[in-house]
Amino acid sequence: MSAIKTIGILTSGGDAPGMNAAIRAVTRSAIYNNIAVKGIYRGYKGLILDEVEEFKTQNVSNIIQRGGTILKTARSEEFRTPEGRQQAFECLQKHGIDALVAIGGDGTLTGARILAQEFGIPIVGLPATIDNDLYGTDVTIGYDTALNTIIECVDKIRDTANSHDRLFFVEVMGRDAGFLALNGAIATGAEAAIIPEISRERDQLAELIEHGFRKSKNSSIVLVAESEATGGAMGAAERVKKQYPQFDVRVTILGHIQRGGSPSAQDRILATRMGVCAIDALLEDQRNVMIGIQNEEIVYVPFSKAIKNHKPINQDLLRILNISSI
Ligand code: F6P
Repeated sequence: MSAIKTIGILTSGGDAPGMNAAIRAVTRSAIYNNIAVKGIYRGYKGLILDEVEEFKTQNVSNIIQRGGTILKTARSEEFRTPEGRQQAFECLQKHGIDALVAIGGDGTLTGARILAQEFGIPIVGLPATIDNDLYGTDVTIGYDTALNTIIECVDKIRDTANSHDRLFFVEVMGRDAGFLALNGAIATGAEAAIIPEISRERDQLAELIEHGFRKSKNSSIVLVAESEATGGAMGAAERVKKQYPQFDVRVTILGHIQRGGSPSAQDRILATRMGVCAIDALLEDQRNVMIGIQNEEIVYVPFSKAIKNHKPINQDLLRILNISSI
C-alpha cells in the first residue's frame, strides 16, 4: 500500500498545449489507484493563496482537446521567498496533500526542487513548455503543437512573400532556445534559421548575407529565435535594411499565438503517457524527478539534471536546413 493518500496537481509558468491532457491523465490515474486529487489553481501563487479544489474524474471530462490549462497558471514572485514557500507548505498540510505533481517548464521544476528540498515533500514534474528546452527529455508537452502553429503561419507568410518578392524575418518563441526556430525552418522550407545556440559563437546574419541568402530565389523567409543573442527579427531586419536597401524587408513576430490552440495528437498522447507515469513514479517511491521521454521510452530525470544541464541542439539539423534550402 502506498503511503500517498492525496496528491495535489498544479500548472505553472507559461501555458502549453497539452497541459489539460496531462491534468486529465494525472487525475484519472490517481483516482484509478485510490489516491484523492486536489487541483491547485494558478500554480504556486494559488498554493500560497489557498486556491484548492477537490478533483473527481468529471472535473477533467472534455478537456483533452482544449488548449491552455483549466487549472490556470501564473509566475509567482512570492514563491521565490522562504516566507512564500512556508505558506505554500502550510496550504499543502491543510489540505492533507502528501505529494505534488507540478506541470510546467524550467521555472516550475526549479520551484518544485526547492519546495521538495525544504519540506521533504515528494514531487514529480511533467515537462510542459513550447520551448522544448528541458534536459533529459527528447520532447516537452506543447512543443509539437507550437511547431504546427508556426508551420501554419509561415506557410501563409510564404504566399505573400512570394507574391511581393519580399524577404521576411519571422520571430518565433523559445526563450533562448532554438528548437522552434530550427525545426520550424526545416518544416516550412525556410531559407535559414537564426538561433541563440549559434549566435553566441558566430554572426549568423553576416554569414547569411555573405553567402547570398537569396541565391536563385526572389523571396526568402528566415526564422529568428527570440533572444538577446539573436537580436530578434527586428534586429535582423534593421541590419539588412541598412546594408541592402534594395531588399524589400518585412517582419512578423508570431508571439503568443504559438502558445494557444488545440493540442496535436502527439502532444495529447505524450501528455497522457507522462501523466499516468507521474502516478506510477510516486507509487514506485520515486521522489523529485521529472518524467522524460527518450527514444520513445519513459525515463525519470532528477530535477537537478533537468534544470541545470543545457539541452543541446542537434547541430546536424543546421546542415540539413542549409542543404535543403539551396
Ligand atoms: O517559456 C514559454 C514562453 O512562451 C517563451 O517562449 C517566452 O519567452 C515566454 O514564455 C513568454 O512569457 P510571457 O507569456 O510571460 O510573456
